[in-house]
Amino acid sequence: METYRAAVIGLGWMGLLYDLAKRVPDRFEIGDVDRPTPSLDLHRRFHHHDHPGEEGNPTSYSEALSARPETELIAAADRDPRRLKAFTERYGIQKVYASAEEMLRTERPDIVAVCTNTATRADLTCLAVECGARAIVTEKPMAHTLAEADRMVEACRDAGVPLSCGCISTTHPSFARAKEIVDADGIGEMLSIEASGPGAQHQNWAYFLDRLPSWVVGVSDEPRRESGSDEFTGQGLAWSENGPVTHFRKGAPGVRLSGSKGEMTFEFGTGWRLRQEVEIADGAAVVDVPWPKPQFNVPYGAVYTLDDVLKCLAGELDEPKNSGRRVAIALEVEVSLKLSATAGGQRVDLPLKDLDLGLNYDWFR
Ligand SMILES: NC(=O)c1ccc[n+]([C@@H]2O[C@H](COP(=O)([O-])OP(=O)(O)OC[C@H]3O[C@@H](n4cnc5c(N)ncnc54)[C@H](O)[C@@H]3O)[C@@H](O)[C@H]2O)c1
Repeated sequence: METYRAAVIGLGWMGLLYDLAKRVPDRFEIGDVDRPTPSLDLHRRFHHHDHPGEEGNPTSYSEALSARPETELIAAADRDPRRLKAFTERYGIQKVYASAEEMLRTERPDIVAVCTNTATRADLTCLAVECGARAIVTEKPMAHTLAEADRMVEACRDAGVPLSCGCISTTHPSFARAKEIVDADGIGEMLSIEASGPGAQHQNWAYFLDRLPSWVVGVSDEPRRESGSDEFTGQGLAWSENGPVTHFRKGAPGVRLSGSKGEMTFEFGTGWRLRQEVEIADGAAVVDVPWPKPQFNVPYGAVYTLDDVLKCLAGELDEPKNSGRRVAIALEVEVSLKLSATAGGQRVDLPLKDLDLGLNYDWFR
């Protein structure tokens, strides 16, 4: 078995803390070196009985990387010395750095988890590639601007580095099962995809639409909110030539895939539901059929986004389910929907020319 030397950049909630404490709501500035950190259960172990009915998975990238036999967690970087100390105490790893750049240039890890806030994600991802990374997992949002997202996708593509951008529900193995059903003609020809919004932070729909849509129409976007986010809040659609139309409709489930011979629906709380055409005495009917395992489950955290890039390295998967390429498509669609809504619902053609366009997110992202 090939093993990979792995490092984490950003020891915040996703990087380290979620497995060691309950999140605290205290306000901070993204550039603060000294972040609010509660007291931590540094020697916590994971027991199946702690999560009856659930999988009992850890959440953080540090824990996911330390648990896999194929990965050896060797180093971490964070500006905050208290978080570096907590990492050393939990994992017994002395190689900790206040500078992510110094860590990447010195340690040259094979796998890098970029769990910082959004602003530095593109630069750190590209630097990790430059320093020889063979696979990269990042947190979400992937990036602020289209140019940043493109830079990440291109750097990884050119170096043959699998890039997975956010441990969202799309990374769960039940989504791979859904894709298998679609590919095996389980719902017939795909006619439409539906989601409650384009949400380039959590875009289940993009996994099922590989083509960049040709144009979008959007309406009813709200102005920037108090939290700092101006992500699209309206409704609309994205049109793809020779592909399904994607609808963004308030009240829609996490994702719905409607085909000529059936339908699949994913809801975060209840998981996947499958309806398929079956033959009956006098024709055919679409009926509920049991979802083939695995069904969606929580918690899933960093475990499956890591699994996807390891599968890519092992030659078992072409592209992570929540790949940077797919997230970049979702970001471009979301930005285009905003432009359309601002112009009173006018059609906006893709690809967009102004790559400095992008989104602002909640203050803590
Ligand atoms: N996938 C999910 O469900 C999920 C859940 C929560 C947060 N997130 C995302 O995770 C990211 C991190 O946020 P968080 O909630 O884990 O906690 P956080 O904001 O406390 O963590 C960020 C950490 O990165 C460090 N950092 C930032 N820039 C750095 C740099 N240039 N060099 C070194 N260290 C740097 C900070 O000191 C901090 O410890 C955010 O973008 C957030 O949107 C995703």
